[in-house]
Amino acid sequence: MVAVPKGRILKPLVALFARAGIDSAGLLSDDRSLVRDTGGLRFLLLKPDDVPTYVEYGAADLGVCGRDVLDEREPDVYRPLDLGIGVCRLVVAGPVGAPPPGGRPRVATKYPRSAAAHFGARGVQPEIVYVQGSVELAPVTGLADVIVDIVETGTTLAENGLAIVETVKPVSTALIANRVSYKYYAAEVRALVRRLEGALAAAG
Ligand code: PRP
Repeated sequence: MVAVPKGRILKPLVALFARAGIDSAGLLSDDRSLVRDTGGLRFLLLKPDDVPTYVEYGAADLGVCGRDVLDEREPDVYRPLDLGIGVCRLVVAGPVGAPPPGGRPRVATKYPRSAAAHFGARGVQPEIVYVQGSVELAPVTGLADVIVDIVETGTTLAENGLAIVETVKPVSTALIANRVSYKYYAAEVRALVRRLEGALAAAG
């Protein structure tokens, strides 16, 4: 059982699996089924934030998860391989041309722990406002001074009048494994990891 996140990571993930000789094209079919049997594996389609939960509790043996989510949640799982997809950055961003907020900035984010750690390391104690999505709206509407969010192409920031203030950290996507499954299905997991490693190496 492999937990995978719905959304933009699916296409590059299916392409990576294909290079590893695993046909997971069924993940891209446009139906509402949340369990997909394809390429000899059973996949669970989940919200990205839920992937580590399923893997940590053993409802899924393996998962595909952004390091942004892993750093925020710190699940008790193995992380045997970086998949080299979904490469982006966690950044602080604010309105174009606005001076950096002084004192105690109000920060909107769906990554409260990472945001608090980032500002805390600079001796700043921000007021964190937790939001689940469309984070870019927060500075536009006055909900917050700045945001801490993921940037991939930069289009969402630009189209909402925001610019990067600083990079918090680079983010990519990892294969994660339940600690018991990793030992119980050691041969199968290692075989899959080796195939994925081969595909990654071939891609340079
Ligand atoms: C993410 C992120 C940004 C956007 C950045 O949101 O929160 O809003 O992607 O991508 P870009 O730099 O390529 O424009 P996502 O699309 O995952 O949806 P969400 O707002 O519901 O979290």
